[in-house]
Amino acid sequence: MAQSVKGTRDLFGNEIDWFQRIEDTARRTFKRHGYGEIRTPILEEIEVFKRSVGESSDIVHKEMYDFLDKGNRHVAMRPENTAGVVRAMIQHKLLASNDPQLLYYIGPMFRYERMQAGRYRQFWQIGAESFQVATPEAEAESLVMLYDFLVELGLRQLKFSINSVGTPACRPAFYAAFRAFFEAREASFCDDCHRRVQDNPLRVLDCKVPGCQAALEGHPLLVAFLDEPSRAHHDRLKEILTVLGLPFEENPRLVRGLDYYTRTAFEVLSTDLGAQSALLGGGRYDGLVKQLGGPDVPAFGWSIGLDRLAMLMQHLHGDAPRDVPALLIPLGEAATLKALALAREWWALGLPLQLETRGANLKKALTSANRQGVRRALILGDGELAQGVIAVKDLATGDQETWTLAEVPARLQAR
Ligand code: HAM
Repeated sequence: MAQSVKGTRDLFGNEIDWFQRIEDTARRTFKRHGYGEIRTPILEEIEVFKRSVGESSDIVHKEMYDFLDKGNRHVAMRPENTAGVVRAMIQHKLLASNDPQLLYYIGPMFRYERMQAGRYRQFWQIGAESFQVATPEAEAESLVMLYDFLVELGLRQLKFSINSVGTPACRPAFYAAFRAFFEAREASFCDDCHRRVQDNPLRVLDCKVPGCQAALEGHPLLVAFLDEPSRAHHDRLKEILTVLGLPFEENPRLVRGLDYYTRTAFEVLSTDLGAQSALLGGGRYDGLVKQLGGPDVPAFGWSIGLDRLAMLMQHLHGDAPRDVPALLIPLGEAATLKALALAREWWALGLPLQLETRGANLKKALTSANRQGVRRALILGDGELAQGVIAVKDLATGDQETWTLAEVPARLQAR
C-alpha cells in the first residue's frame, strides 16, 4: 500500500479544523491592516533562493528540493516565500512608485529536513511582507498585527526576541573580530562551521552542534559593531514596543538562518512550546529587492509555521470547535426525492444541512449520525410527507418534535 512521502502528511479532521480556523483569523486580521493576498508559484528558478536565502544557509546548502525539469531548467520547490514574493514584485513592477505594498500569503513550503515533532518536509507558512517601509514604526505596525493575530487565537505566553544584525556596512569589522575569535579556538568547531566562518560568519552562531555552542561562549557581538543609524533604529523600535506594551527581550545572539536580514531580526517565543524552536521569525531585508534585480526598496516581514501553530492550538485548546450540520434523513424513495428538493431550497437559504443518501434505515442512519457528532436529525418518512411536516430529533437528549416544512428554515437558523 502506498504511503505519503516521508516528511509529508495528509491534513484532515482536527488538524484541518485548526488550520482553517487559524487561516480565517489570519485573513481577517491582515485585511483589517490593509494587507492584500499574494500567491506565488511553488516552483521558482533555483537562483531566486540562492541569491536571497543565501548559498551558505542550511536551507539552500542542504535542504532544497531542486531538480532539472524536462526543459532542463534548474528549479526548486520553494523553501520559503519571501524570495518568491520579491521576485514577483520586481517582475510585475509593483515597486515602481513609492507607495507601500502590504502583502500576505498562506501556502506550503518544502525543506529536506530531519524529522521531529512540528518539523516536516512539506510544511505550511502564513507570512506577511511589507515594502517601501523603512521606519521602526512600520516594523511595529507589522508586529502589532502579528501579536494581535496570535492573541486572537488564544495564545498568551508570547514574547518577541529581537536583535539588530546591522547593515552590510557594519559587517566587515564584525567579521574580522569574529574570525579572530574563531581561529583562537577553531579545533572546537565542527567542519560545517569551518566552512561557514569563511562564507558567512553569522551562520556559525546558528550551529546546532552542542560543542560549537559551547565554543561560542564570549564571542564578539554584532550589536557592538552597529553604525549609528542602525543603533538609533534599534533603540526606537524598542521604545515603541515598550510604549505599546508588546513583551520583548533583546537577544544579541539571534541571527536567523537566512542571509537577507538587515537591522531588525526577530523571533516569537512561546513558553507553551516545550522543547521546540521558536514559533516564527522574520525581520528587515532592505537589500534584497535590489539584490534580485529590482529597485532599492526597504522591506520587512515574517512568517509563521502553520503546522506548529495548529499543534500548539490543539495542545492549548483541545479539538477545534466544529459545527456539524443537522442531518436530513429521508425514509423511502418518494421521501428521498422530496428531501433532495427541500435540501436544495434550504441550502440556497444558506442553511447548513447534510443529507443521508444511502437509503439507510433509520437506526443505521442515527447511529452514524451520532458517531459524526450530529446534534439534530430531521426525519422525513411517508407519514410526514403526506402531512407536510418533518420529525426533528435532538440526538443529545433523544427528544423529538414535529415541525411544519415551512418553519424549518427559521427554526434551524434560530439554533
Ligand atoms: P524561517 O525562520 O526559515 O523564516 O521560517 C519561518 C517559520 O516557518 C519557522 O519559525 C517555523 O515556524 C516554520 N518552519 C520552518 N521550517 C519548518 C519545517 N521544516 N516544518 C515546520 N515548520 C517550519 C522564513 O521562512 C522567512 N521567509 C521569514 C521572513 C518573512 N522573513 C522576512 N519575511
